[in-house]
Amino acid sequence: MKRIISLLLVLAMVLAVSSISYAASARRGKRVFAKVCEACHVKGSDAGKLKPSSKTMSQWKRFVEKNRHDVDKKVLDEMSDKDRDNLLKFLQDYSLDAATVETCG
Ligand code: HEC
Repeated sequence: MKRIISLLLVLAMVLAVSSISYAASARRGKRVFAKVCEACHVKGSDAGKLKPSSKTMSQWKRFVEKNRHDVDKKVLDEMSDKDRDNLLKFLQDYSLDAATVETCG
């Protein structure tokens, strides 16, 4: 009985840890945004400055998942699934209809 309980405990811990490491991270997404998107999207450029708060959560979801970056589809196509998930999390966390708005940067 004790053995089963400890086995279950270990299982629960493994599940907890793995769900943490698989969850999309806005912090990592912000890095993807800075590295990938802001290569072009800076003030005064042709692409123009881009902020997460320029779209709503569902607009970002559609934009990223359906790749609506028509000017250059490679940008989203060529990143890893993980980077894309994290990027979407960042964009949504600071989107127009999110609770938090990023004010600086
Ligand atoms: C190679 C340069 C480049 C990169 C990298 C890039 N973009 Fe763009 N993006 C553009 C250009 C150019 C436009 C068109 C701007 C226009 O038509 O005024 C654009 C347009 C957009 C638009 C449409 C503007 C709007 O208000 O609807 C969005 C949203 C966008 N990009 C998001 C992103 C995101 C998110 C990333 C990072 C994953 C990214 N872009 C990376 C060049 C780039």
